[in-house]
Amino acid sequence: MDRLFIFDTTLRDGEQVPGCQLNTVEKIEVAKALENLGVDIIEAGFPVSSPGDFNSVVEISKTVTWPIICALTRAVEKDIEVAAEALQYAKKKRIHTGIGTSEYHIRYKFNSNQEEILERSVAAVKYAKKFVEDVEFYCEDAGRTENEYLARVVEAVIKAGATVVNIPDTTGYCLPWEYGEKIKYLMEHVDGIHKAILSTHCHNDLGMATANTISGIINGARQAEVTVNGIGERAGNTALEEIAMILKCHKKLNIETQINTKKIYSTSRLVSNLMNMPVQPNKAIVGRNAFAHSSGIHQDGVLKNRENYEIMNPEDVGIDHNSIVLTARSGRAALKHRLNTLGVELADKKLDAVYEEFLKLADRKKDINDDDLLMLAGKERSERERIKLDYLQVTSGVGVKPVASIGLIIGSEKFEAASAGNGPVDAAIKALKKIINREMTLQEFTIQAINKGSDDVGKVHMQVEHEGVVYYGFGANTDIVAASVEAYIDAINKFVE
Ligand code: KIV
Ligand code: ZN
Repeated sequence: MDRLFIFDTTLRDGEQVPGCQLNTVEKIEVAKALENLGVDIIEAGFPVSSPGDFNSVVEISKTVTWPIICALTRAVEKDIEVAAEALQYAKKKRIHTGIGTSEYHIRYKFNSNQEEILERSVAAVKYAKKFVEDVEFYCEDAGRTENEYLARVVEAVIKAGATVVNIPDTTGYCLPWEYGEKIKYLMEHVDGIHKAILSTHCHNDLGMATANTISGIINGARQAEVTVNGIGERAGNTALEEIAMILKCHKKLNIETQINTKKIYSTSRLVSNLMNMPVQPNKAIVGRNAFAHSSGIHQDGVLKNRENYEIMNPEDVGIDHNSIVLTARSGRAALKHRLNTLGVELADKKLDAVYEEFLKLADRKKDINDDDLLMLAGKERSERERIKLDYLQVTSGVGVKPVASIGLIIGSEKFEAASAGNGPVDAAIKALKKIINREMTLQEFTIQAINKGSDDVGKVHMQVEHEGVVYYGFGANTDIVAASVEAYIDAINKFVE
């Protein structure tokens, strides 16, 4: 079987999603999970873009052993120098440099011409080669770059020493056969193509990222750039789990990855929780309903023989239907064991704090499932906020005017306020605004149940605008009004000093 290298860019392209930014500790946690999952390359960040990104690449380089650590740059010397410095501790390192090659980028972004861009491409690769052996070059907007010119760029950068050449469909525009033909064209027309690996990097704007990636692989690409849960700007990137499982299910393609598919589900949950990015219920492979048969005909068929309706075994992606459900009587050891299975390792003191929260939740909710546990562990991770909700009391219903009183702890002081509103959330937020007197407007507000049942935990995502900037907040609680206020406070905590 041929081998496909999995290049994970959850921490770079995935993390560009507004509101999904992780701190360095959280990025290290994701990087370790990716290493356990078996990815070959981790794109850890874009070091020149911010001190935070630089630091994350440094720390991930120190922590991760097996995968190659990759840092993104533009075709700019300063970027390359900073990336090389950030990668200094990596056991295996790669610089990923590149430039736009489509007419749009050449003309309107760089105000340049094809020959100049070709020269800059070669110069960037040669410069990166001074610092690392492994240099990947991306031809941004390759999806809309004419094949003949693209082939000239690919040939030139391979000659200059590029080990991998990335062919991004940056705008998610290509049709699967078009993208496949592009890769085929390069395989057939570039001198020295066998000295490098061609990589796919597809965006999902038209819902074709996975199809395009598979088409690229069938036509000769041997690296796929992906993100966990397909997260990424706009409609996202190709989903790692989809590529891994397509190749596992379709043995006839004769291509394998090193992904330990049994870790897919826990990694998906970890990323979703840390990034506060819910996975849509019908998401392939990792969505809540991906293996749920609800129609009578399907249920009957599956009971007779699983393969009647299932092309994959849920256990192959790490979904354990027999997983123990924790209750108020479960001990700390059971909690620790379950969290470890989900990829979360907590030090004893943190575990104690999560256990306390777990018992409180178990008093309100009979069965505690994996999502609840990850939500609790995530909550514990963000206990560093300046403003905290002390209490919230709300009266609402039919025929009564909704009123709320709220207590906040800011620093070490307590503040209280009350307000009426046109609903319980409105009343609670108006009361909160009496304490935190800033210009701020709620722009987006979504409530989602994690699982099923009226005793479920509600997750709230909010976007709050303050002085022209949008801040993202998240809250989770069995009481959706409390979850809403938590989300509002979470957003405020991002701009109060
Ligand atoms: O989509 C894209 O073109 C990219 C490159 C920077 C690799 O993310
Ligand atoms: Zn991209």
